[in-house]
Amino acid sequence: MTAHSDHPCIPQELETGVAIIDEEHRRLREFIGRLRSICADFACKQDCTGCSAERIGACDAAFLDCMTELLGFMLDHFRHEEQLMKDLGISARQHERYQLHAEDHANIAGRLAGLTRPQPRAATVREIADTASHITRWLDNHIADHDLPMLH
Ligand SMILES: [Fe+2]
Repeated sequence: MTAHSDHPCIPQELETGVAIIDEEHRRLREFIGRLRSICADFACKQDCTGCSAERIGACDAAFLDCMTELLGFMLDHFRHEEQLMKDLGISARQHERYQLHAEDHANIAGRLAGLTRPQPRAATVREIADTASHITRWLDNHIADHDLPMLH
């Protein structure tokens, strides 16, 4: 399946084997697909030239809505994951690794929180594209580097 699918899959090598966590990772990918669906010409546009101010405003509003929902979902997911690691004794057994993991959660949440506030944008379409790419890279790296070694 592609990232644009309504029901994206998690690649098998990134499955933790914990059903609720894998489902939440899949939902995070759905949000990325939703970001990418905001602009129909997303892949080939370098800026918003050719779109009306009204259209750009609508894209900007859709971006802010999606980011706000994504951040809320992501924070809930981080809480679930960290609590699970505490309940399973992982946070105590692998204390340093658990701390780094929680820091990685806090860092991405802080960065995304800055994108949930209205602000002037040079090119809304690039902001959306860059954000979608950044979250995709972050999610795959985070799962591989942090979640999998502790949960798998
Ligand atoms: Fe995590």
